[in-house]
Amino acid sequence: MVKPKVLATHRLFDPARRILEENCDAEYWEKPGRPPREEVLRRLKDKEALICLLTEKVNDELLQAAPKLKITANVAVGFDNIDVAACTKRGVIATNTPGVLDETTADFAWTLLMAVARRLGEGDALARSGNWKGWDLDQLVGTDVWGKTLGIVGFGRIGKAMARRASGFRMKVIYTDAVRAATEAEQELRAEYRDMNALLAESDFISIHTPLLPETRGLFDAAKFERMKRTAFLVNTSRGPVVEEAALVAALASEKIAGAALDVFEKEPAIHPGLNRRNVVLAPHIASASLETRTKMACMAAENVIAAFEGRRPANILNPEVLKG
Ligand code: DGY
Repeated sequence: MVKPKVLATHRLFDPARRILEENCDAEYWEKPGRPPREEVLRRLKDKEALICLLTEKVNDELLQAAPKLKITANVAVGFDNIDVAACTKRGVIATNTPGVLDETTADFAWTLLMAVARRLGEGDALARSGNWKGWDLDQLVGTDVWGKTLGIVGFGRIGKAMARRASGFRMKVIYTDAVRAATEAEQELRAEYRDMNALLAESDFISIHTPLLPETRGLFDAAKFERMKRTAFLVNTSRGPVVEEAALVAALASEKIAGAALDVFEKEPAIHPGLNRRNVVLAPHIASASLETRTKMACMAAENVIAAFEGRRPANILNPEVLKG
């Protein structure tokens, strides 16, 4: 029997390859880094499935180059790289990887929060520099985390995982979201709802966990930074374009906020040069990057592909309407 052909734009991990290879004829981009776009388009000509990363734009151009495509499986929960409507129009299933990365991403948002509050980046640089002269009373003094107010923007699974970790630091947790959480969730996480302006005014740390949508693009602009406390820090592990980077740089330069810790950027992999400051911690989009979690994400994408080939509904389908036709 001829096996369906799959293109993965990454070598994935062995457990995911095993899932795929049992049932499909899988081709991988084995080289480091992402494949050139023309290579992806060329290889897609005879493929029925694409497994891709969030760096690949699945748009009309790509879909046109892939006339046999049945499914595109994103190895990420965020799917702003996929034109879901264009997929639906062509009857192509689109899937993502929700759920498996929540705790790992929240762990990393906390890593960033702690690092910027306690000046870990500067401390690490000093310790390695050979210039450390020894303990000093006012050396690299940061700000306390415990007992402060954490404001969470976007109270989905990752936002809630962020909130859950705050109780160990005896923090007050407030959140904002388009939809207010159920009372039981608020009680369990000891989180109080605020509108955006109240959250901005009250928080000592603001952590962003909203997806990139037309209504969240540029959500953090100059006006938002104006409303934050001068002593507050911004943490972003969601998507770069949720924050207007130029406005953030201006807010940092004029000391309207105390600092920022960022895993995501407006035009990745470019990073605004104005973010290269002592009170900014930078990471290269690695919030979900534990071996366990990235392996789960790759396996989930592979399973979504297999489900589609077996005529089952992929667990993480984004456009279930294509199955109705
Ligand atoms: C996602 O899954 O959307 C992340 O940004 C990568 O883990």
